[in-house]
Amino acid sequence: MSSKRILLIIGGGIAAYKSLELIRELGRRGIASRVIVTKAGTEFVTPLSVAALSGDKVYTELFNLTDETEMGHIELSRSADLLVVCPATADLMAKAVHGHANDLASTTLLATDKPVLMVPAMNVRMWGHAATQRNVAQLRADGVTVMEPDEGPMACGEFGPGRLPEVSRIVAEIQAMLRPPADKKRLAGVHALVTAGPTREPLDPVRYLSNHSSGKQGYSIAIALAAEGARVTLVSGPVSLPAPEGVDLVKVETARDMLKACEDALPADVFVSVAAVADWRPVKTATQKLKLKGKGAAPAIELAENPDILRTLSNKKKKRPGLVIGFAAETEEVERHANEKLARKGCDWIVANDVSGDVMGGLENEIALITRDGAERWPRMPKEQVAARLAARIADQISGRDDPQKLAAE
Ligand code: C5P
Repeated sequence: MSSKRILLIIGGGIAAYKSLELIRELGRRGIASRVIVTKAGTEFVTPLSVAALSGDKVYTELFNLTDETEMGHIELSRSADLLVVCPATADLMAKAVHGHANDLASTTLLATDKPVLMVPAMNVRMWGHAATQRNVAQLRADGVTVMEPDEGPMACGEFGPGRLPEVSRIVAEIQAMLRPPADKKRLAGVHALVTAGPTREPLDPVRYLSNHSSGKQGYSIAIALAAEGARVTLVSGPVSLPAPEGVDLVKVETARDMLKACEDALPADVFVSVAAVADWRPVKTATQKLKLKGKGAAPAIELAENPDILRTLSNKKKKRPGLVIGFAAETEEVERHANEKLARKGCDWIVANDVSGDVMGGLENEIALITRDGAERWPRMPKEQVAARLAARIADQISGRDDPQKLAAE
């Protein structure tokens, strides 16, 4: 999806500032934004901040001689793969329904031959008004995709549906609309099991052993597999990430809970073991908070080894997932350790990364994919792109594109 571009129309609503985050998140996934800001939109975000984030010229006026000579408004309306109106105000939607063309945004919407996504955001009563609901129904009948707004407290102090959906939800919708139809359902009918985040091993009711895993890479992989059409079960340790849309989320605390949840989720066609499972747990968990007994009398903590979830699932006689992928977070000699791990755990692939930098909890990752055929080194990229690329490789493998026999027969 690296060469895709959207034309983003930023309407005049308080949620306009979130479109800046949208531009940034899309950019992280290799999707460029060319932006039109309506006159009302410029009351909420400045074209300068939009230009800085999109790295492109920002368009605001219909009758601008310089713009028209550089890129006419008809060409502009067709220069992208998808038009996204975010936030879509009640006024912009009403104009689109009636085919108005009295400013650059409405003219572009009328002149385009590309799919259109509208992301509404407005006051709860404006959203619920019969006129808006009629307009939404008409837009959908005209082939426009209109997202449902979120429900919750609003900037105006009221509560209800009308809030702009979470940026992650908008990004997922845009990615789905940009994907070519043939690729959309490559993992349809496939059950993917993914673990993510750390585990927590309790010492007493208030203390635990854990690690810095944020869950970001595992959640991104679950989302990317779901986007490829898989049914995804995501077994997650405690993280502060929102539950991804369209994924079955099972929340657990300890390694033993995580193993049980994974076994309960079988059979699965693919297992991606991303979680940073704690290797040890305290042998005893005190039922009451451990008390300070006096200077120099720190309690000794006896540890027991946790079950190895990856190895357990890799070595199942019955119900072994067809493709088992482990992660190897190393700080030195990454590939050598990863190869050893492949053999020791009995999995099929290892995603190896060097965590000596800011990878754990960070936004980017640089990995090597180790299969039985060797190592593929991928360049450093955002964790979402690692996820999309890994999901595509899984889809290649499962749909047989990587099968040497099938390749030979082609
Ligand atoms: O041996 P190491 O912990 O480095 O292996 C990492 C891989 O093994 C990861 O895929 C991780 O999810 C998995 N693992 C596991 N259960 C454990 C420890 C690690 O599934 N107890």
